[in-house]
Amino acid sequence: MSVTLGEGRTPLLRAPRLSERFGVELWLKFEGANPTGSFKDRGMAVAVTRAVERGAPGVVCASTGNTAASASAYAARAGIEAAIVVPEGAVAGPKLAQVRAVGARIVGVPGTFSDAYAASLELAEREGYVSVNSTNDDRIEGQKSAAHEIVEELGGLPDAFLLPYGGGGNTKAYARGFQEAAGALPRFHPTQAERRADTFASAIRIVEPIHAAEVEDAVARSGGAVVTVTEDELRDAWQAIGREEGLFCEPASAAGVAALARGAASTGERVVCVLTGHGLKDPERVAA
Ligand code: F0G
Repeated sequence: MSVTLGEGRTPLLRAPRLSERFGVELWLKFEGANPTGSFKDRGMAVAVTRAVERGAPGVVCASTGNTAASASAYAARAGIEAAIVVPEGAVAGPKLAQVRAVGARIVGVPGTFSDAYAASLELAEREGYVSVNSTNDDRIEGQKSAAHEIVEELGGLPDAFLLPYGGGGNTKAYARGFQEAAGALPRFHPTQAERRADTFASAIRIVEPIHAAEVEDAVARSGGAVVTVTEDELRDAWQAIGREEGLFCEPASAAGVAALARGAASTGERVVCVLTGHGLKDPERVAA
């Protein structure tokens, strides 16, 4: 039996004003439209389905918030337990509310995302839970569906493909998906915050990206480059997406558009930016 909340099939929207501003044909893949408000739902549906198949009593993850909200919801749907390990004080309140609302257990750990990840693996070992971080390949298998949707809707690959780069799992999933769907990759520009340790885009506050090697591989194979953006660039892009296109995403989700503002694509190119999570995930960032 597959565990689903109706994830995927998210809107791929033309962005006419930002296209004009950057001189490209820009499309925005709005992953905030998934059931728990982020792209994580695609992979979680597969990972929790497989965990249930294996008879696991529960799942566990370390998270900056979105993986947590997703794992909790899919576990509740499946009728198994979820334990969520978070770096203390680093997760946006609404994401923790999502976790609590569906009855998952929250464990706060002092330190960074990596410390929380190490603690989550210990908990998995101790309780026989399945780890549903992106090191679980079922997550990658599920997330690659977004690349298939893009190829199907555009009738082929875009020229350039831009998305936020936290741990790199999503970049890895899209590379796999594009390769399967089109036999090639668009030019990849995974975009990271210059201030990885303390960026205001809390979803991508990850100092040591666990999939760095796969990200480098996708970038090299596609002739792309990792782009690094400042806090001001992230904020400007995030506001522009809202004010000019009417889409409210969370700050981390604006990374791809920030890379575009830095010149990651050439005039006339067809570009897809992934908006990874909904703005309601982190509403306090909006100035009153
Ligand atoms: N955008 C959002 C909204 C995220 O929540 C994340 C990661 C990313 C981008 C980066 O994706 O790690 O695959 O490169 N969030 C994880 C979490 C770390 O715990 O929710 P990545």
